[in-house]
Amino acid sequence: MAPSGGEIVEIGAFKGRVTGWLIEAAQMRPDRPVVASIDPHGWGTRADFEKTVADLGLAERGLRVHYADSRELGRTWSKPIIFLWIDGSHEYDDVRQDIDNFTPHVVREGLIAFDDSAGGTFPDVERALAEWEAASGAYKRIATLRNVSVFRRIA
Ligand SMILES: C[S@@+](CC[C@H](N)C(=O)[O-])C[C@H]1O[C@@H](n2cnc3c(N)ncnc32)[C@H](O)[C@@H]1O
Repeated sequence: MAPSGGEIVEIGAFKGRVTGWLIEAAQMRPDRPVVASIDPHGWGTRADFEKTVADLGLAERGLRVHYADSRELGRTWSKPIIFLWIDGSHEYDDVRQDIDNFTPHVVREGLIAFDDSAGGTFPDVERALAEWEAASGAYKRIATLRNVSVFRRIA
């Protein structure tokens, strides 16, 4: 379990499938952390996303929606993060930017999950992640679940 004292942050919401699960997980915790969802919905998914948010009552249960590009928002992000779910742009430079901008805000013992980062389907994501993993001494890989790589901040 992630520690308390920060937000759960989702980069790349698409139609809100994982967003809903993140709210379910947040609601099971005593501290009920905010879930921040970041996506400009440039792929035309905003209506479907908003339908998911309305159907599941996500706004009333702690969802904060940022209709924003993570590369932009990441430059000024300042809140502590207890769990970071990265599934936005899968381009190498963009993944590096998401990592560089958001991981410094992950609290000690906090968790990061990278979707589409194993299995060979998205080599850009895998390369960006591998470089970061090799260079950063602050995180430990704790699981690889199908195409999701999970890390815990240890320093
Ligand atoms: C693979 S989908 C996410 C799927 C979602 N996690 C799910 O499981 O249903 C990628 C999403 O990232 C978003 N995206 C792409 N570039 C982005 C960026 N720079 N910042 C934030 N979101 C971005 C897209 O709009 C798209 O909705």
